[in-house]
Amino acid sequence: CGIIGYTGTRQAAGLLIKGLASLEYRGYDSAGVAIAGGDSKDINIYKCVGKVANLREKVENAAPKGTCGIGHTRWATHGGVTDVNAHPHRVGKVTVTHNGIIENFKELIKAYNLADKLVSGTDTEVACAVINNFYNETENIEEALVKAVDEFKGTYSFTVLVEDEPGAIYAVRNVSPVVVAKGEDGCVLASDITALTPFSKEYFVLPEETVLKLTKDEITVKDFNGNEVEPEYCEIDWDVNAASKNGYPFFMEKEIAEQPKAIKDTIEARITDDIVDFSKDGIPEEVFKNFQRLYFIGCGTAMHSGLVGKSLLQQFAGAYSNVEIASEFIYDNPVLDENTLVIAISQSGETIDTLEAVKMAKKMKATTISIINVRESSIAKASDYVIYTNAGPEIAVASTKAYSVQVAVMYLLTVQIAMINGKMTLEEGKAFIKKLRKIPDVVEEAVKNRETIHNISRKIIEAKDLFMLGRGLDYSAILEGSLKLKEISYIHSEAYSSGEIKHGTIALITQDTPVIAVVTQNKLASKELSNAIEVRSRGAKVILFVKDGIKLENEEEWYEVVRLRDVSDEFMIFPVTVALQLLAYYTSLDKGLDVDKPRNLAKVVTVE
Ligand code: G6P
Repeated sequence: CGIIGYTGTRQAAGLLIKGLASLEYRGYDSAGVAIAGGDSKDINIYKCVGKVANLREKVENAAPKGTCGIGHTRWATHGGVTDVNAHPHRVGKVTVTHNGIIENFKELIKAYNLADKLVSGTDTEVACAVINNFYNETENIEEALVKAVDEFKGTYSFTVLVEDEPGAIYAVRNVSPVVVAKGEDGCVLASDITALTPFSKEYFVLPEETVLKLTKDEITVKDFNGNEVEPEYCEIDWDVNAASKNGYPFFMEKEIAEQPKAIKDTIEARITDDIVDFSKDGIPEEVFKNFQRLYFIGCGTAMHSGLVGKSLLQQFAGAYSNVEIASEFIYDNPVLDENTLVIAISQSGETIDTLEAVKMAKKMKATTISIINVRESSIAKASDYVIYTNAGPEIAVASTKAYSVQVAVMYLLTVQIAMINGKMTLEEGKAFIKKLRKIPDVVEEAVKNRETIHNISRKIIEAKDLFMLGRGLDYSAILEGSLKLKEISYIHSEAYSSGEIKHGTIALITQDTPVIAVVTQNKLASKELSNAIEVRSRGAKVILFVKDGIKLENEEEWYEVVRLRDVSDEFMIFPVTVALQLLAYYTSLDKGLDVDKPRNLAKVVTVE
């Protein structure tokens, strides 16, 4: 969920709506604001299902006055998507927004006798009632918050308004982050820095077990014993304009186009004298030498980049690793000890499954490195070492540039691990890095090939089901490409290892089923092609994405053939990735869908 709060000298409503629009990628089932600090003591709440645009209309019609307020854009967990379940929630004198899940809400309903008093089906309203209960008892909201959160099991960041203090906003958090800044005309908080950039270049992350108070010109942070805590400010290093569409119709298209620069910035930041240098990230070389086990963990797209890492490490470093979905890892009794290296991958740095996995790994003495795009995020802070990717803000829910830079880091890690363990000489390492440094140009060319891919998207737009086939690194690439297509075009797509399809899925191939077969690995091409012929001979319309240089016999027998630029096998993942991103993009675009905000998804998932 996205949260925002502002208190200052300007009217809050418009600012909050604007802030919510920039946070909408965190959830868009419903949205709401609560406005205080007007002429009366009242706190006015406006909320409704749907996107922030719906709320904007409602708020503009009501034109509420007030210089203080909080806002929320929801990704529903407990309680369906209804107006009444939208945040903010009010009980008594207390109004809250909440990001996270209060797991023991049923117990709390009983313990505080709330059953008849609740109007929504949310855990948040229960939490609000508990806070209000303690507020009635103590008449001090800071104390009430400390007492209330002690009763909660789960994850939370709460922003709070109290009727008796119309110009103040309070906040408290455990896992879900709150970032805070002071602008020229007021103070602001949000769930991430995208909403802070119009106010200030400096911000801090609210520490856990502290209570924040914002007034129009003052920020106070106190620990749970009431002692003041000095916040640690950091600089926002993202350009304000980087989070705008810059003339593109959708963020996704802009972010696809930004990949050459993102990859270049990520690679070049770790190269000294033509060779990998992670000392720039403060990681000592021994970390890459002294491990017996290596896990890559992540969710969704981030996990897919780990698959590339696994293949590369096997091929070039002779090192075995495991790639684990973070939410499975935690409950799968992973073998973790001081000889284990855990590499967590996350764009946002906030995905709770990945965060919990890192915490668990640390607790069991493993060394943790995280590959993260968002500075100062929770996973970055929880890890022993961080490799920040330089993709800049990624706003589209479907990840593109963040994936490419994660993959780029896999190549750097491979060279580092191979060299330190004697599997690559300095010369070989340098030769590998030289090829890697050419990738931004390869990607640039792939992005320019957009019209070819657009034509292909027109051929699949009517499909209900589609299959993608590939082997080796092509298989990793289609897992990600297929996810992209599902996420934003709503076409059911299955990525299958070319060799495995005959063991089941081929039963689903009927006349005219579209199949995208990716064939870019010289060593595997003949096998990949013969698997594609197997489905073609069962009636499938096979579209080949094939590396230029791989010879095709009877080319006319394929439904479509797309030629991809010829680079060494191990780097083909980049042009394939861009082609499949564009395929998903144009399919979604031509279907008239909201490319950047696909239904039911959210970009940052802070619930387990
Ligand atoms: C969400 C997003 C995915 C993303 C995944 C992991 O589900 O919709 O696009 O891959 O979270 O996110 P992270 O920020 O940890 O990379």
